[in-house]
Amino acid sequence: MNAKYQKLFEPITLPNGETIKNRVVIAPMTTESANPDGTVSDAELSYYAARANGVGMFITACIAVSPNGITFPGQFVGFDERQLPRLRLLAETIKRGGGKAILQMQHGGRQCPPDLIDGDVVSSGTVGNPRNVDAAGNMVVPRELSDAEIRAIIKDFGRVTSMAIDAGFDGVEIHGANTYLIQQFFSPLTNTRSDLWGGSIDKRMTFPLQIVNEVQAVIRQAKRRDFIVGYRFSPEEFETPGIRFDETLQLVDRLAGYNLDYLHVSMAQVDFHPRMEATSQAAMVTQLHDIIDGRVPLVAVGSIFTPEQAMHALTLGADFAALGRVAVIDPDWIAKVDAGREDEIVQTFDAEGADATAVPELMRDWILAKPGWFPGTE
Ligand SMILES: Cc1cc2nc3c(=O)[nH]c(=O)nc-3n(C[C@H](O)[C@H](O)[C@H](O)COP(=O)(O)O)c2cc1C
Repeated sequence: MNAKYQKLFEPITLPNGETIKNRVVIAPMTTESANPDGTVSDAELSYYAARANGVGMFITACIAVSPNGITFPGQFVGFDERQLPRLRLLAETIKRGGGKAILQMQHGGRQCPPDLIDGDVVSSGTVGNPRNVDAAGNMVVPRELSDAEIRAIIKDFGRVTSMAIDAGFDGVEIHGANTYLIQQFFSPLTNTRSDLWGGSIDKRMTFPLQIVNEVQAVIRQAKRRDFIVGYRFSPEEFETPGIRFDETLQLVDRLAGYNLDYLHVSMAQVDFHPRMEATSQAAMVTQLHDIIDGRVPLVAVGSIFTPEQAMHALTLGADFAALGRVAVIDPDWIAKVDAGREDEIVQTFDAEGADATAVPELMRDWILAKPGWFPGTE
């Protein structure tokens, strides 16, 4: 290994006492390739097996916690015990590579395509979603969740945590990012409530924090202090109203006092500065590092393709660098850096070579359907 990348391979101990062997995380990435019954498919197992070697933490694709939270075709789901045997295989497959297996838990809220959830799209309010249109081409307007339904979804996060423990995962990640339901509750754009669950910034934090509480209660009951809990968030929205970075700093300050094992900031580029109004224009990762003040490790993601870029994330203040698209493109990224062969890292997606890198066919088709998403598909 090139000495300048040594820090990427330094172990770190999480607040719950678990040691992660290095600073390289594979970011959660949906494959759209589960079996039709929502169980983990063989193609997915091959995909994870090909990427697991040498990883510090491997965060899975998001699992839908509730039937009205399915967001992607071919998303695996966690509604009942029938999913357990295949989840067990997934956890085993990842752990065989030597890293921690973390199951990402998600509910899509107003982002769910109506045809995947019998048309009943729900959210923290009734704000129409220009990014979600139904089969007739009309903008989807969600239905506001009732208090009882909100409490049931919180329980769903707990139930899937319990399944993750039974399946042998090392931890879970709560998906509070990328505009899905948890973010919809935190956002003044989509949370138009005036009850316990909305209104002031404190009330908009109620749903996310209650989920953290529920997940931790399940872990306490299982007597699994070693079980890792992470929380992923997006730092800004570009709509008005919308989440501004100063509000995110308040959320992160609260989360850092909640006994979590890591926080995970979701960005398109790891070195972004706030693009909307903010008190400080310093790099967001650096500001997050400062407000966290050593209370909990920070994972950062966004256009990391080279070990230099991963090191830059650490220099800005992250404790872990997460790989997204490059981990799909080149399953041997970590092995190559470890062996000093970083010049051989592949950075463009090769549709012809997808089989050789165990990218499931449906995932490959999804990638190719969005030209420019992955380098090499423009
Ligand atoms: C194919 C694909 C699927 C993704 N699925 C998820 C997901 O299930 N959960 C999530 O939080 N983010 C998901 N993301 C976002 C990634 O975790 C990551 O934040 C994003 O790709 C930016 O990192 P990158 O620039 O290294 O690709 C997905 C990204 C890709 C490319």
